[in-house]
Amino acid sequence: MDKQKLIEGLNADLNRELETVMRYLLEASVMVGFGGHEARELFQQEIADELKHAAFLADKIVALGGTPEIKPAYPTPITDPCEALKRERDNECQAIAGYKERVQQAEACGEIGLRVELENLIADETRHFEELDRLLR
Ligand SMILES: [Fe+2]
Ligand SMILES: [Fe+2]
Repeated sequence: MDKQKLIEGLNADLNRELETVMRYLLEASVMVGFGGHEARELFQQEIADELKHAAFLADKIVALGGTPEIKPAYPTPITDPCEALKRERDNECQAIAGYKERVQQAEACGEIGLRVELENLIADETRHFEELDRLLR
């Protein structure tokens, strides 16, 4: 396994995390009404986790000899609570899939410490997914 490929994947993960931070922040701010209040509380609560994930990934990229390439896409606001929750549930699902792939790449590179940390990220994203899913049921 090419370490460069692993670094590229981690950079993609880093940008996805930063995009998630921006979306949660934006979505929390535009939510109003009863349903909106529930969604707002959940979005606000996840921001710190996602920012921590981004900081971990940026440090790890440097530790592996790479450069963090920060170029997140800007989010579009969704004001309907259900639609915003659905978008975030899909995004958490994609994050889990991405980290599962990264776990395999880390393992193939002999980066066992990273593999364990990535598994912890999978646990966090799974919790986020389940919290969003609970509100959508
Ligand atoms: Fe995350
Ligand atoms: Fe998440």
